[in-house]
Amino acid sequence: MKTKHKVIFGNCMSMEELPDNLCHLMVTSPPYFNAPFDYDGFFKTYETFLGVIEKFANETYRVLQDGRIAVVNIDDMLVNGTKYPIVADTFKIFQKAGFQYRDRIIWKKPDGYLRISKRSGVLLKNPYPMYFYPDNLLESIIIFQKGKFNYSSIPEKIRELSEIDKKEFQDNKWYMTLWEITNVLPGSPLEKNIAAFPDELPYRIIKLFSYMGEIVLDPFLGSGTTMKVARKLKRHSIGFEIIRDLEETIRKKAGFAGLENNTNEDIFEIHVRKSGKYRCIDTDLIEQKKKSYLNSNE
Ligand SMILES: C[S@@+](CC[C@H](N)C(=O)[O-])C[C@H]1O[C@@H](n2cnc3c(N)ncnc32)[C@H](O)[C@@H]1O
Repeated sequence: MKTKHKVIFGNCMSMEELPDNLCHLMVTSPPYFNAPFDYDGFFKTYETFLGVIEKFANETYRVLQDGRIAVVNIDDMLVNGTKYPIVADTFKIFQKAGFQYRDRIIWKKPDGYLRISKRSGVLLKNPYPMYFYPDNLLESIIIFQKGKFNYSSIPEKIRELSEIDKKEFQDNKWYMTLWEITNVLPGSPLEKNIAAFPDELPYRIIKLFSYMGEIVLDPFLGSGTTMKVARKLKRHSIGFEIIRDLEETIRKKAGFAGLENNTNEDIFEIHVRKSGKYRCIDTDLIEQKKKSYLNSNE
């Protein structure tokens, strides 16, 4: 089966290229609250960050088909000594957008991922009550649904083609609310400067919540992990990414770079939103904004 993969370089606070009720699944990981780029520079305040989450939630609701699933990989964040309840706020925002809360999975990274950090090390320096700040090995995978799914809407043949391997499901403990998955290792070339999630995460979500030939959306595409996995699993995909310079990375990751482009059957398309409030930006601009922001705060 030939699949189509489209990258829209633009801000996903507006998904204006997509009609209502187009996509069958949304899976993504939004930028960290302290990420050095908002389309307008930094996330200057927590409210600005939540504003992005709210617009992205509303647009996701609009472009998803009825009964379908939205999955957000996100976690609370400690910035300059303040802990922000990002997961709780995202729950509220998605519910306000119209979604029902379906499930929460905890993603646990391997124990060796963190050695004693500055944070938990505080107690080792001061082994007394009140000095405890734990290190975080976990992220949340929160799952929402837009109304009721009509199981009989799927043709029998597609159902069969999309059957989940029960052995894989059981052996890898997909059935639990705790998923132990190794994170992308620092220094991986395609994920440089991008907080990419490992293939295994969209792999499980796409298998569990979409049928073959359906459209998977990732509004914060990054290095293109969702697109790569969607292609492998014979789903179509659409990704939004604000940083224009990531095209090559996405092409390489999804297998559309160089020669492969001419030899494979699948289709790769790019759309660049060049103007308007929600246009894409390039890394030079981010660097400039970062500098002027830092200077203005000196
Ligand atoms: C956490 S990363 C996603 C990583 C991705 N899951 C992967 O595996 O590579 C978030 C991405 O969202 C992009 N981004 C941030 N704000 C955006 C926005 N408003 N619209 C579209 N993309 C945005 C960032 O440039 C970054 O690449």
